[in-house]
Amino acid sequence: MRKKIVAGNWKMNMDLSSGIELAKGVKEYFAGKTPKAEIVLCTPFIHLSVMKDVLKDSNIKFGAQNCYSEPSGAFTGEISCSMIKSTGAEYVIIGHSERRTLFKEDNKMLNKKVRMALSTGLKVIYCCGEILKEREQGIHFDVVKEQLTEGLFNLTEDEFKNVVIAYEPVWAIGTGLNATPEQAQEMQSFIRKLIAEKYGKGISENTTILYGGSCKASNAAELFSMPDVDGGLIGGASLKKEEFCAIVEAVK
Ligand code: PGA
Repeated sequence: MRKKIVAGNWKMNMDLSSGIELAKGVKEYFAGKTPKAEIVLCTPFIHLSVMKDVLKDSNIKFGAQNCYSEPSGAFTGEISCSMIKSTGAEYVIIGHSERRTLFKEDNKMLNKKVRMALSTGLKVIYCCGEILKEREQGIHFDVVKEQLTEGLFNLTEDEFKNVVIAYEPVWAIGTGLNATPEQAQEMQSFIRKLIAEKYGKGISENTTILYGGSCKASNAAELFSMPDVDGGLIGGASLKKEEFCAIVEAVK
């Protein structure tokens, strides 16, 4: 059975003390409970070095929201995968639509980041998804296929096993307008089929595919009830402890 995951993507929110408070809040909420999903907190870089300590004695994992593609050197302002790994982080989000759009990261660059992260021993949450115009034009399947083919499909089978995919239709991110469960399911079963064609049915059945985009406590259960929706990547709603914990508990 593939792993279910609910990952919080805090984006550029939370100063050091509020981030610690939020992480502690989530940890306390789940103390003594066994949620059905693995919880991952993807924090700003500044929180990473304290998260191991903040989250100790819990099963909650943490990760970064970005990384650089080179191992070290003269790249002022960038953070390497080995730096992230050295904090105890297990995950890194790569290819979020905000990185693709605002920071002009293309599939080729993202593929370099993915390979660097995996070779460093991090697990990758690789984001894909179409913009509204692409859906309206009916090319959303082609767009996602290209993002996966160029971003991931040169990985070896062993590398690919450490990849989680997050389908995040860009028109649903931060807009309050989530994809319907049927829309999420349709794309996510398509993604699983592509993985099966490339890596075989065994690997595709074991790949965790998350949905992201205006996922909240009130719609999470319905989205997560779909057979190919294995949890969520949560933006805005991950900043509120009660809301985020309720989303985690929506995984059955
Ligand atoms: P949202 O963001 O939940 O605020 O829509 C999701 C994401 O960007 O990962």
